[in-house]
Amino acid sequence: MSKQLHAPWCWVHELDDYVQMFDLSAQDLTLKILDCAAGPSSFAAELTQRGGRVVACDPLYEKVTEKVEMKTHEMIDALMEKVSENQDQFSWHTVASPDELKHEHHGTAELFLEDFKNDKQRQRYRGETLPTLSFTDYEFDLALCANFLFDGLQRPEPEFITACIKEMCRVAREVRVYPLLNSEGEIAEEVGPVMMQLQQDDYGVEIREVDYQFQKKSNAMLRVWPNTCVVE
Ligand SMILES: C[S@@+](CC[C@H](N)C(=O)[O-])C[C@H]1O[C@@H](n2cnc3c(N)ncnc32)[C@H](O)[C@@H]1O
Repeated sequence: MSKQLHAPWCWVHELDDYVQMFDLSAQDLTLKILDCAAGPSSFAAELTQRGGRVVACDPLYEKVTEKVEMKTHEMIDALMEKVSENQDQFSWHTVASPDELKHEHHGTAELFLEDFKNDKQRQRYRGETLPTLSFTDYEFDLALCANFLFDGLQRPEPEFITACIKEMCRVAREVRVYPLLNSEGEIAEEVGPVMMQLQQDDYGVEIREVDYQFQKKSNAMLRVWPNTCVVE
């Protein structure tokens, strides 16, 4: 029987995870991308290595490197504790065990940390805190936000989530948010009110099924776009 979860999950995802979570096509990966609340994800590091154009932002990046390194390892430890206590929430097909997951997360974090250390001018890793971003209007084609808005907040408020999504829509022509689950692994009750508010304020919204299903019930993302822009 699972324990009830109320603390946020501290995932550390790699590029292949993002491709599945956000249904990213080869064409999408050529766009100018903002990874919001990117944390220790290696998405920016890996995409940059492949010649992609990506900026990652997170309040974490305002800290000195040693603190970022320490926080990254703390996040993985906290995640592994929760995963071990709640193994029935996951589909152990592509990853066979918590130990394998831990090994993968440390590998991902190392890729991130190496790239973070190399980016001394903080061009790719920007210290930014939602719901306010310092980027200019439509500076990006696509903004991605993984494991922060619905499942990463201690007390998710629809108004805060909506404000964060609108701010990402200000700086990018399309926003994708994943997952739509709360921190207990259930569909977040805030999804409906957030979508309704965005629609009322003339944003395009769509829930799209995605392939990523490591956490059960997590096979959907939210796409949002400002209606002043054309999105295919
Ligand atoms: C679970 S991590 C997500 C990491 C990454 N997106 C992934 O999926 O691998 C959540 C991140 O949200 C960041 N965060 C917390 N408050 C934030 C805020 N107000 N604005 C932007 N990011 C925030 C944290 O620093 C943390 O790195």
